[in-house]
Amino acid sequence: MPPLQQRQDASKQRGLLDSKNRSQQATGQESKPKSEGKGLESSQGLGACHRTGPCARGYEDMPSAEEVGKRKAKPIRALDLFCGAGGSSLGARAAGVQVVGGVDLSNLAEKVYKDNFPKAHFFRRRIEGLSASAVKREVGPVQLLLASPECTNHSCAKGAKRRSEASRQTAFEVLRFAKAFKPRWIVVENVIQMKSWAKYAKWLRRLEGLGYKTTEHVLNAADFGVPQARKRLFILADLLHRPPSQIDMQDGRVPVRKVLNMNGVYAYSTLRKKGRAKRTLRHAKRAMRNVGMKRPFIVVYYGSDGAGGWQRLSEPLRTVTTLDRFALVRRIDGGHKMRMLQVPELWAAMGFPDDFKLNHGVRRERIGLFGNAVCPPVMKSVITALISKPPKGIQP
Ligand SMILES: C[S@@+](CC[C@H](N)C(=O)[O-])C[C@H]1O[C@@H](n2cnc3c(N)ncnc32)[C@H](O)[C@@H]1O
Repeated sequence: MPPLQQRQDASKQRGLLDSKNRSQQATGQESKPKSEGKGLESSQGLGACHRTGPCARGYEDMPSAEEVGKRKAKPIRALDLFCGAGGSSLGARAAGVQVVGGVDLSNLAEKVYKDNFPKAHFFRRRIEGLSASAVKREVGPVQLLLASPECTNHSCAKGAKRRSEASRQTAFEVLRFAKAFKPRWIVVENVIQMKSWAKYAKWLRRLEGLGYKTTEHVLNAADFGVPQARKRLFILADLLHRPPSQIDMQDGRVPVRKVLNMNGVYAYSTLRKKGRAKRTLRHAKRAMRNVGMKRPFIVVYYGSDGAGGWQRLSEPLRTVTTLDRFALVRRIDGGHKMRMLQVPELWAAMGFPDDFKLNHGVRRERIGLFGNAVCPPVMKSVITALISKPPKGIQP
């Protein structure tokens, strides 16, 4: 039996596919995303409850803030939707949370995630066709739901290309899982442009309609000890209290120099060699005018850059994207030489821990995983703030 068929059969047995999607999946057709409202407004649904706090029904797994403080023996359990390589999950684990499952359609993400979270369940599925109640049967209750819905169709990185509304709609899948799991807390991460999405306000209202109080934060990873300027939107949701309006940041910024290997282990090529893109040379020339001829610097090798196409090593790295776009330029033996930043450097620039396991994928795919990821230190701070007992005087 071909492997795809075996996987589909196994999923059917486990009841993981939504019944409506089973026949489509079996014929290899892509399942259509559900319309965003579907399943959220039934009279059984939380959306119809119109409560501002948790109602009596179905919140037996929800710890109070006091319990959370005493929760040494029974850790908070989390499910990570659109988990990718596991940046959010790593941040959750660093915050003391037990990550019990991840969902992602990518084959590579599955391999990398499983290496790093061997005890977690992994559901390699298009989320639109995945039954939330079947996932719940497998992983058990969770108190924290993490989600980074598809973001390239909100993102500037997509440029003028047609943006897929179906893909943006995956944000509504988060609500479907929230309804099924009723976690006490939710963290949704995305690019800042998600806020300009025509359905963003409606999506947020639906989340609040499930009983959650929410706060929105635009956080820069550089404020959390990560040597990278990476601004992302975090939506925090709590069933009991208003989530914190501020997340603790770290003083001082870590320069990209800290994560660069300057020991000559990586090969350089001559900067002004035949065939070098004119744009790269322009960026380098501009950098030399600013830092002088002797100091090393980074050029943006690929893609457009609205900030001159170069940066100093004394600053955090510009945003790591899914493209291989940063090159280090240094003067070696009297001439300028250049090399691309390497995967371990990008990994450190994302704030991924040293013991992260990355044994799959080629260079381009590995860079793609990091470019899509959440910086673990940011997620750690977000979760720590969210699950902490609110200060006295703050009313739910
Ligand atoms: C922004 S990345 C998530 C990054 C992840 N939170 C991390 O920190 O590494 C989005 C992920 O969603 C996955 N994805 C996109 N559309 C999906 C869908 N319809 N169903 C399941 N996964 C999807 C992609 O494969 C990608 O890994």
